Amino acid sequence: MAARCWLWGIVSLLAVVAAAAAAVGDGEEGMWEPLIRMWTEEGDDAEATAPAPAPAPATPGYGGTRWGVLVAGSSGYMNYRHQADVCHAYQILRKGGLKEENIVVFMYDDIAHNTHNPRPGIIINNPKGEDVYAGVPKDYTGPHVTAENFYAVLLGNKSAITGGSMKVIDSKPEDHIFIYYSDHGGPGVLGMPNMPLVYAGDFIKALQMKHASNSYSKMVIYVESCESGSIFAGLLPNDLNIYVTTASNSSESSWATYCPDEEPPPPPEYTTCLGDMYSVSWMEDSEAHNLKKETIDDQYETVKKRTLNSNSFSFGSHVMEYGDKTFKDEKLFLYQGYNPANGTITNEMIWPSPKAAVNQRDADLLFMWKRYEQLSVESEDKLQVLREIKETMVHRKHLDSSIDFIGKLVFGFENGPIIR
Ligand SMILES: *[C@@H]1O[C@H](CO)[C@@H](O)[C@H](O)[C@H]1NC(C)=O
Ligand SMILES: *[C@@H]1O[C@H](CO)[C@@H](O)[C@H](O)[C@H]1NC(C)=O
Ligand SMILES: *[C@@H]1O[C@H](CO)[C@@H](O)[C@H](O)[C@H]1NC(C)=O
Repeated sequence: MAARCWLWGIVSLLAVVAAAAAAVGDGEEGMWEPLIRMWTEEGDDAEATAPAPAPAPATPGYGGTRWGVLVAGSSGYMNYRHQADVCHAYQILRKGGLKEENIVVFMYDDIAHNTHNPRPGIIINNPKGEDVYAGVPKDYTGPHVTAENFYAVLLGNKSAITGGSMKVIDSKPEDHIFIYYSDHGGPGVLGMPNMPLVYAGDFIKALQMKHASNSYSKMVIYVESCESGSIFAGLLPNDLNIYVTTASNSSESSWATYCPDEEPPPPPEYTTCLGDMYSVSWMEDSEAHNLKKETIDDQYETVKKRTLNSNSFSFGSHVMEYGDKTFKDEKLFLYQGYNPANGTITNEMIWPSPKAAVNQRDADLLFMWKRYEQLSVESEDKLQVLREIKETMVHRKHLDSSIDFIGKLVFGFENGPIIR
């Protein structure tokens, strides 16, 4: 049976109660009340409360340094795709001419040499993709992938950093900054492999502090996670010279892609999804264009279309935009650089669009289920899978209570114990 059949059958039963929003900030923003959101809940009220656009200040031209901050907020082989996304993004920025010293990478770094990885030392982000792991700097890995370090890096505050390479965004007023984040999320929250998580209120506060320090010209932020719109909707002011797009609106899942049993699938030896829909959409778009000609808006429109997938196969999410929309006609190379190898192409998609995707929240379940299925009854490995599942659930509870359903997947709906 195709994975999506049983998955979607289960998903439709889910009522996801995500209370993580309660933890957002200290109430200073005053816009995000603690709330409980049901899976099926519609609407996006917060968007309506966004402040009116403010006029953009004079652009200091195309000078300055390009900076990148790349964050994979998860760990574990079942979340292969987030670190694959981030490694791929690193390669794009590097090929675009950004210097290693100007790109800060946060990744747990437990994928390439994971025992489940069929190609040791290699990470791919596409079924036909080449290795994206080689050369990625280990700036903040393992226990150093923290919200605290993320804010400190962004603010260029070395004294607030714990562990890692100490590389920070030491940017000047004329510089451009590109932030890309890929992970799980929930209302008002983005995942981190170490507690605490990144809460919308804290993230926005850090952005406001960065703006107050007058240390960049413009900033573009791309975020992939479930409910990623909720990080910015009604919270991000329009006068920070920051433009944001997110994989999903405030009340929906985002989607994993290149998953087992899907079209196109990963190579057969992979039991995990290789990428995320919005993420591979922007990256494959960047690789198929001359970024000195393509605008921020062009990419937004393309990615939006591909990620929504015309809603024709009952998967896909609404790519959203937030913040200052006055500089969308800027060329992408200001943020992602320019790869001369792509100079002559006009508009050429390298990869065919995926025809199916797996809800981000189910991508873990799919992986666990695949492993569980493969193992023979009563083996020690099987027990180990169960232990890992339990640990995952404890960790993920903050983000996603639908994980409780793995217990039912494994043990059956009639007699499934509640695992907590
Ligand atoms: C957000 O996504 C949900 C689920 O796809 C949809 O029902 C809702 O209309 C969307 N809201 C906005 C503002 O796009
Ligand atoms: C940098 O971080 C330290 C330690 O958290 C803090 O005391 C200091 O105020 C920060 N400096 C700036 C400029 O934000
Ligand atoms: C753009 O350049 C990269 C190599 O730097 C290459 O992998 C990719 O195929 C190029 N894109 C196209 C459409 O030729």
